[in-house]
Amino acid sequence: MQESSVPFQRIVFVCVNERDASLGVSCGPRNGAEIHRLLKEGVKALGKAAKLRVCRSGCLDRCAKGPNIMVFPDNWWFYDVSEEDVPVILEKITAGL
Ligand code: FES
Repeated sequence: MQESSVPFQRIVFVCVNERDASLGVSCGPRNGAEIHRLLKEGVKALGKAAKLRVCRSGCLDRCAKGPNIMVFPDNWWFYDVSEEDVPVILEKITAGL
């Protein structure tokens, strides 16, 4: 094993989990994957991809509030997110980078 510091200033986890509807709500069927795609493309278009990583996440354990996005190390939680929210989220997550 080797160890180093994290090579990104900010990591954004976008829940794309898809659970069988009979087992409860999940973020994937509520456009989690599309929100992830839009954020990832937006970060790249802004030239911030080397500093900020947008990741597809499994369940973040706040399913009823989803779609969910959690941002580290800032401890930001965006919930009940829609595609229309992406520009505002992009502005916040790229600020200062
Ligand atoms: S399915 Fe997204 S938080 Fe659980």
